Amino acid sequence: MRMRKKKNLISRMERCGDRLVREPYSMPGKWRELMPQARELRLELGCGKGRFTAGTAAAEPDVLFIAVERVPDAMVMAMERCAAQGLTNVFFIDANADQLPLFFAPGEADRIYINFCDPWPSNRHAKRRLTHGNFLRLYRQVLKMGGQIHFKTDNQDLFTFSVEELPLFGFELSEVTRDLHANGPVGVMTDYEAKFHEQGLPICRCVATMVPWEEPFPTDIRRVKNRWLDVFADGVSEAELGKHVLSEGNYLWHLFS
Ligand SMILES: C[S@@+](CC[C@H](N)C(=O)[O-])C[C@H]1O[C@@H](n2cnc3c(N)ncnc32)[C@H](O)[C@@H]1O
Repeated sequence: MRMRKKKNLISRMERCGDRLVREPYSMPGKWRELMPQARELRLELGCGKGRFTAGTAAAEPDVLFIAVERVPDAMVMAMERCAAQGLTNVFFIDANADQLPLFFAPGEADRIYINFCDPWPSNRHAKRRLTHGNFLRLYRQVLKMGGQIHFKTDNQDLFTFSVEELPLFGFELSEVTRDLHANGPVGVMTDYEAKFHEQGLPICRCVATMVPWEEPFPTDIRRVKNRWLDVFADGVSEAELGKHVLSEGNYLWHLFS
């Protein structure tokens, strides 16, 4: 469901503006200056209204948390939550997670949380899933070796997709469960998680640890074609594709047609 536009968004954002990082593009390599004593730097992608953000930051005050959220109307609620609790170890970026390598230096992050990301059930939209290989490649650019992704979802199909996708991109799985709270609540719940748990839905969770990895050359033509589309025609609509591939520099497309 689309979020209703919040009233007074700008003034509310300004009120907790000291938590908003307005120029994240100028920050690679500098995040720890915000909290030099931090023992770790962790990112949360799609923090929504911030129940998990605030709860986790309160539980681990010696960790620096950066929450990334592309919908300001949700993010402002997370910011207000953290402000109300007087948390000083959380900062926010209002952006799409696909920008991560422009915000963080290689190896700068220790952990990434992805909680209840949009499942994008149709195959056509698989690339939008935050656990799709295209995103995993980006996470590899900002995570330190041995860094982790902590992933939770209620969506069984998304979970199946993710536990297959993660090892293909150099992440070792552990703590894999399809019923996290089977024996009573575990860890800090997110807003979505609390709602689903109350409805009796099982919650899936896994931890993925980044290990050394080299991208293998794709061997079947469909994968090569998709890779070409990712690199040379990302964001180009079906209608524009013909014009795009005939433009200068895209002549290699003819290998696939
Ligand atoms: C289903 S909600 C879950 C919110 C929260 N993590 C929770 O569990 O309660 C997904 C959130 O991720 C955000 N989101 C989705 N794709 C994103 C992206 N590519 N970059 C940043 N935020 C994203 C959405 O705006 C939304 O707030």
